[in-house]
Amino acid sequence: MAAGLLLTVLVLLTGACSKDSDPPSTSASESPADSEGRALYEQHCASCHGTDLRGTDQGPSHLSQVYEAGHHPDDSFRAAVTQGARAHHWDFGDMAPVPGLSAEQIDAVIAFIRHQQETEGLEPYPPT
Ligand code: HEC
Repeated sequence: MAAGLLLTVLVLLTGACSKDSDPPSTSASESPADSEGRALYEQHCASCHGTDLRGTDQGPSHLSQVYEAGHHPDDSFRAAVTQGARAHHWDFGDMAPVPGLSAEQIDAVIAFIRHQQETEGLEPYPPT
């Protein structure tokens, strides 16, 4: 009887507790900023770099080791988008600047790419 009462109290307490700390309704694996980055990436980058980031016959894979932050920090991504990039790692030719993206949108794209690099893992460079 006493144990039953104690149990009831415990259930009420934990119930009240978990109600206070309900997780936010957004998915833990992809933040709202990431899904904005994904949408922008699909619109502005995927035609050459692929919707899966693994490249096309127009441009290289962003999941290559060569694009990890240590080799190509975020600033080199900003420069590539705003000023374009000279072909120097691959044979796809130069990348033209991509117009129409605000600094915040570029940051969202970079955050999305970094997140994919972390979750998908990196391909060896040079490719095998
Ligand atoms: C029209 C095709 C095309 C589009 C669209 C494009 N890229 Fe590229 N991108 C390339 C090619 C080709 C290269 C390879 C240059 C090389 O050989 O190093 C490249 C290279 C890069 C690099 C490496 C730059 C460096 O310093 O080596 C980054 C970063 C990059 N792209 C980011 C982006 C992002 C972000 C977008 C979308 C906002 C985008 N690209 C859209 C074709 C494209």
